[in-house]
Amino acid sequence: LQRLPSENQHILVTGGLGFIGSHTTLELLKANYNVIVIDNLSNAFKVVFDRISELAQKFHSENGTKMPSLRLHQHDYRDTASLRPLLEEYQLPSRWGTPKSKIAGVIHFAAYKAVEESIRHPLKYYANNVGGLIDFATTLGDFGIKTFIFSSSATVYGTLATSGLPLKEELCVHKPEEYTDDAGVVQTAQPGSTGITNPYGRTKWICESILADLAESDPEWTIVALRYFNPVGCDSSGVLGEDPRQAPTNLLPVVTKVMTGEYTQLQMFGSDWDTVDGTAVRDFIHVTDLARGHIAALSTANEGRLIENFRTFNLGTGCGNSVLDVVTTMEAVSSKPIARKEADRRPGDVGYCVAVADRSREELKWKTEKSLKNACEDICNFLHVSGLTPQQSS
Ligand code: WQD
Repeated sequence: LQRLPSENQHILVTGGLGFIGSHTTLELLKANYNVIVIDNLSNAFKVVFDRISELAQKFHSENGTKMPSLRLHQHDYRDTASLRPLLEEYQLPSRWGTPKSKIAGVIHFAAYKAVEESIRHPLKYYANNVGGLIDFATTLGDFGIKTFIFSSSATVYGTLATSGLPLKEELCVHKPEEYTDDAGVVQTAQPGSTGITNPYGRTKWICESILADLAESDPEWTIVALRYFNPVGCDSSGVLGEDPRQAPTNLLPVVTKVMTGEYTQLQMFGSDWDTVDGTAVRDFIHVTDLARGHIAALSTANEGRLIENFRTFNLGTGCGNSVLDVVTTMEAVSSKPIARKEADRRPGDVGYCVAVADRSREELKWKTEKSLKNACEDICNFLHVSGLTPQQSS
């Protein structure tokens, strides 16, 4: 199958103005893909679109290359009435009635993602994250758009994360899957409950199952589920930061609000976990590394290099850092103390969650290059560029 060079490929990105979506949209444009962003601005600001465009224009003018097209479809991805006319615009003439599209792939970020909120409002999460996916994939299929990168999450590992077992993709499968264990013995992983601790995580697990069944039913689909660990940091320009419309619940944006004085102190949820310093340990991955993981997944899928037409990948560094590590790293980088206090554990939390990232390194030819320190430096730079705090001391 003749593959178009990326500069002729159009990629549809839902939630493309969100934290991870915006950084991925920027990396797609830098990699010469044309991008159509679908975003309803429920958790993002329109100005992010302008920032992405400026950064991409600057990159291409500095490199003497042509700026690909960037377009915003400001609607909810579930609004099929507005989605169908948009997809019609990219239809190609097709023989024998098989629909063909100029859209070479879809990256689906749009979803609700706050663990605690999902515990209080599960139906809202199932309607958007699961119900929305079913209608969206149905419409894409009608237009012959069948390369699909799904934004999943390490939360699908549930309590497996603290079982001490290495968090490999084989632990958490949707069909019986053979793999070779560390002793070199061929094992068969069985689908089953992974002890997920919250509705948000269950929506991601259910979506993966739906997509696995869809791929099984129709070999024309090529589907990749990317299981994010903990995305942090921001683009090194300082222009594109994490700027959610809604109050943040994730660690780094909360630490950022303590640094700007908007919050008085950080509550560290749990100091009695079975970890190096009692605070929880996570795999903090720089959002630019994460975005580049999507480009790697897209080219692997588009070049027909996926081992099977539904495949899950961990996107993490493979290294763990504790909540306290994050606080002390940010204090060292910013030369500013961060007020914090120990608090009770948060419902739905686990004490340890770190990726085994072998599969994405071997099959996507991708690995992380940035560190937690880089992420903290980039956040300080974003605050400085935004005029929110003085530049960090050199
Ligand atoms: C990390 C650690 C908190 C805030 C969640 C989702 C996951 C993904 C990333 C979407 C935990 C502690 C946090 C605070 C704290 N989301 N913390 N004080 O819970 O690991 O993962 O976000 O894909 O799917 O589950 O991330 O950043 O919320 O928390 O002590 O004010 O920081 O208890 O141990 P989490 P997080």
